[in-house]
Amino acid sequence: MYSDPSRTVDVRVRDLISRMTLEEKVGQLNQMPAIEADFDKLAELAAGGKIGSLVLAWTPWAGAGGERQNLNVAENNRIQRAAVERSRLGIPLILGRDVVHGFRTIFPIPLGQAASWDPQLVEEASTIAAREAASAGVHWTFAPMVDIARDPRWGRVAEGFGEDPCLCGVLAAASVRGFQGDDLSRPDRIGACLKHMIGYGAVEGGRDYNVAEISQQTLRNVYAAPFRKGIDVGAVSVMAAFNEIDGEPCSGSRAILTDFLRGELGFSGFVVSDWASVDELRQHGVADDRRAAARIAFDAGLDMEMSSGCHAEHLEALVESGQISIEQIDQSVANILRVKFRLGLFERPYADPELSSRVFLQEDHRGCARKLAAKSLVLLKNDNNVLPISSRTKIGITGPLATAQRELMGTWTVDGFGDETVSIVDGFRNAGVNIVHIDDTVDSGDPLWSNVDLIVVALGEDHLRSGENASIAALDLPSGQLDLLEKLAVVGKPVVVVICAGRPLVLTDVIPHADAILYAWHPGIEGGNAIADVLCGAVNPSGKLPVTMPRHVGQIPIHYARKNTGRPDDGGYTDIPATPLFAFGYGLSYTTFVYSDFAVSRPSITALEGIEASALITNTGDVPGDEVVQCYIRDVVSRMTRPVRELAGLERVRLEPGESKRVIFALSASELGYWDRDGKLTVEPGRFGVWIAPDSQFDGREAGGEFEVVA
Ligand code: GLC
Repeated sequence: MYSDPSRTVDVRVRDLISRMTLEEKVGQLNQMPAIEADFDKLAELAAGGKIGSLVLAWTPWAGAGGERQNLNVAENNRIQRAAVERSRLGIPLILGRDVVHGFRTIFPIPLGQAASWDPQLVEEASTIAAREAASAGVHWTFAPMVDIARDPRWGRVAEGFGEDPCLCGVLAAASVRGFQGDDLSRPDRIGACLKHMIGYGAVEGGRDYNVAEISQQTLRNVYAAPFRKGIDVGAVSVMAAFNEIDGEPCSGSRAILTDFLRGELGFSGFVVSDWASVDELRQHGVADDRRAAARIAFDAGLDMEMSSGCHAEHLEALVESGQISIEQIDQSVANILRVKFRLGLFERPYADPELSSRVFLQEDHRGCARKLAAKSLVLLKNDNNVLPISSRTKIGITGPLATAQRELMGTWTVDGFGDETVSIVDGFRNAGVNIVHIDDTVDSGDPLWSNVDLIVVALGEDHLRSGENASIAALDLPSGQLDLLEKLAVVGKPVVVVICAGRPLVLTDVIPHADAILYAWHPGIEGGNAIADVLCGAVNPSGKLPVTMPRHVGQIPIHYARKNTGRPDDGGYTDIPATPLFAFGYGLSYTTFVYSDFAVSRPSITALEGIEASALITNTGDVPGDEVVQCYIRDVVSRMTRPVRELAGLERVRLEPGESKRVIFALSASELGYWDRDGKLTVEPGRFGVWIAPDSQFDGREAGGEFEVVA
């Protein structure tokens, strides 16, 4: 009956579990790394029903730019065939891979995608990533990474959507929708995995894998926000985090993986550990052997164990000794089987080795990558409108990232190829502009420089300087790059700085030497074309910062949604301003926009009602442009302290010169409330401020007002 696709998933799951032995059930909870040397062994284990999944990586550093780990579709099929055709019940494996920001078509890193503030385009990119990954036999991705990060020293800030609960939540949902679509059984869709549960971005000192000290209020109202949104749109899995919270490693915390994740957030999919995080409970000092690690993790609610094999070794004995119940086992196995049935793996277990060559890098895939990259670029400075560069200008381009290709793809590009990436120099050449590439060792007095009208210098990080286990203590440009910039500044030509990085860097010393600064993150396979499109004016920049950019590393953690404290006018630094260098939500355009005529639909509402806030946005410049309009709220008086402003909505609008549009934001409990210690969404009576703004600075350009929530 379980093999009958006309039966409901629940019927098939129940029927299959009723036929399984304890050994076969434990096999479903075991995920092993697809190590090439082990393929024969993996096939035998699959034939014996001892494994239920492969992580298509053979080291935990798949995304950290280590040795390339190509997929072997034929071998994966061979292991799958052993599971389906030789095991007693023929349960297919689910094959998981890190498809974090594209598969073969590499999109901007997630932090760059977040700078686009364009959920539709992020969804489209995830749809393309799913199409390409599925064509190569991947069933499930360990993405989106939804860790909110407010400490750019942490290398994995590159992999997430930035510092804000609202923006991260919107993009987490968009990404899950893109991967999973409406019908998970379609051959071009894959399961998503919200990671890492929870608070990984708050590791102390920005040091990876470290302790995260988070209050219950911050956990519920900041770090859980993107998980809520991803779960709301049906993410089928969650990955436990390496870090500990409140004295418990997340991978062994029932409070996190069951009471909070399932009890409060309503998650009903399956939980997978992060690479060896079950065995690492011993290093954390909460388990004195692998049997204890298996018991603690499984009892916490960790269904599938990635790579470290404690579940496989000890769960049967733990059940036989009564320390784990067979009901718990059946529940975890059901969580996993439901997803395998929904993915259609029983009907379509094998990949077509010929398919992916027809799917990879299609024209529209590259087109989406170019569009998303262009929208992700943030123009931070543009003195004297030195940009856009006119077609008559002779450009001298230089810098360590001018011809870079692999670097532009950024971290976690497991299946992309550097030589398929458009460099910045090639982007300019493709645009047909008058350009000469000058090596950055050429002396500033060299005549080469006097023959150009403007200098573009490409600076920033390579792909290894951010990502997993790549935290840095100083957020400066890599060594030598500021010296190069200072050298170019004396040439006496306008200097346009393009920065490619996996994190916000401190630009305080860069600003005086740059007439213009374009922050490009790691823009992906079409990065060079997108940068040329923006610098040469084919595309008007519209990216806005998804993270605060500090003026000094000593300000960290720093973010816009600060609390007022009891002494809002004091408590800064005596040596530097407490304000950031560039604010969350900030980004320039080649045109200007004015916000005016704020209105609310009613002066007051009850806690159960909604309200609309709106403002008129006008393009007051002479070129068309996109504007990312942001809505912020403040609960002025509340039992729990609330930030001085919280992003409550975002909308990207395109306006022709002189055109105005009224942008309306619907606000209700999910935007106005907060999650209290009992996990209840609470909207307290009282005054609320609401602003519609170009960014989080509130420097007078915003349009705002107040309304009242009445008891
Ligand atoms: C890594 C990462 C995780 C990734 C997993 C599989 O250590 O922490 O995000 O999905 O291992 O590669």
